[in-house]
Amino acid sequence: MQYSPGLEGIIVKESKICLIDVENSKIYYRGYDIEELADKSTFEETAYLLIYGQLPRASELDAFKERLASLRRPPEHVVKLLGLLPKSAEPIDVLRTAVSAMGMGRNLSDRSPEAELERGLEVIASMPFIAANWDRTRRGLEIADPQAEGHAEYFLRALKGDASPRQIKAMDVMLIIYAEHGMNNSAFTAVTVASTLSDMYSVISAAIASLKGPLHGGANIDAAKMIEEVGEPGRVQRWVDEALAAGKRIPGFGHRLYKRGPDPRLRVLRRLARELAEEAGDYKYYEIAERLEEYVHSRLSHKGIYANTDLYAAVIFKYLGLPTDLNLPAFAMSRAAGWVAHAVEYRRNNRLIRPTERYIGPVGLRYIPLEARG
Ligand code: ACO
Repeated sequence: MQYSPGLEGIIVKESKICLIDVENSKIYYRGYDIEELADKSTFEETAYLLIYGQLPRASELDAFKERLASLRRPPEHVVKLLGLLPKSAEPIDVLRTAVSAMGMGRNLSDRSPEAELERGLEVIASMPFIAANWDRTRRGLEIADPQAEGHAEYFLRALKGDASPRQIKAMDVMLIIYAEHGMNNSAFTAVTVASTLSDMYSVISAAIASLKGPLHGGANIDAAKMIEEVGEPGRVQRWVDEALAAGKRIPGFGHRLYKRGPDPRLRVLRRLARELAEEAGDYKYYEIAERLEEYVHSRLSHKGIYANTDLYAAVIFKYLGLPTDLNLPAFAMSRAAGWVAHAVEYRRNNRLIRPTERYIGPVGLRYIPLEARG
């Protein structure tokens, strides 16, 4: 048996959801180029595509959007839970806990892929409510449940009261771009949990736990903090030199798959960040990211380290006015579409995930009584 640290290069499932064509720097959701989806689609349509496997007809899309809208407000015990948690709680922890609580008191006996898909839709629909209203709750504001066309508008309106059409479009593009990315750590976690025939609330809360780590989605918070710390484009070189001299990793850089050039999603995200900078009349964050890209590449491209999505996601979320620690829930509320798609796809042809390990410890040791151990 072959050992592959970090499961690098190991195929754990067959999938029709996402093709990452590293060679040609392209990503396809269900066969559609994500750059075209980012340009022409919406998060709702893309989520439908990921979950059901095809683009919806107009009537199907309307019904899907109505269904999501009807599910936005989570059960009352979850709304009340927001008021009970410590105000210092990290938003991603609140989201994970709230999703877990959504499954409580439910009849979960039907574990068919269809039933799990319905539960998945409920969770996807409610995540913007939970993320935005957690921020409101900790600021001492009332719960908000605004009228909105979709996820992006709902989230920004609930969070900030208002948002320009351009900001809503930018948020929507972020949600499309973040929605899916093959067998990443959180998708694998989702599939692993789903493979035990556990329920979708558990699947998604486990995936959120995975996404939280700074080597995965948590990098979009660390990248935002880095941009704040750097402060201005002229300070990039010094910041990076000091970080590398201290043996630190630069957040928003490096990827298991992209070792020969930047993440293909950056073509969309750089443009989006630039447009938002232009709208704000302030290019500072954009320029810091650009300089970081240039300088980190000059220092680390020989190791296969290039910018990843989280660098520009951090810039975009800054221009959208998100509190830094909401970057990660914003990622989760998009990626949930991919998690549900993977969990349901896997469950249609389920086999318990149970890898193995190579034991390298001792055997045959003699038991020493406690009093004789010295
Ligand atoms: N900054 C500095 N050095 C780095 C970075 C980085 N961001 N990433 C990797 N390296 C170095 C490693 O230290 C290692 O150096 P060495 O060979 O001298 O020991 C070399 O590059 C190879 O690194 P690996 O850990 O083998 O690369 P791996 O493919 O396992 O890691 C990972 C990928 C975890 C994403 C890594 O690049 C990283 O920690 N990046 C920073 C966090 C980040 O941005 N994560 C988001 C990833 S995208 C996403 O999940 C949404």
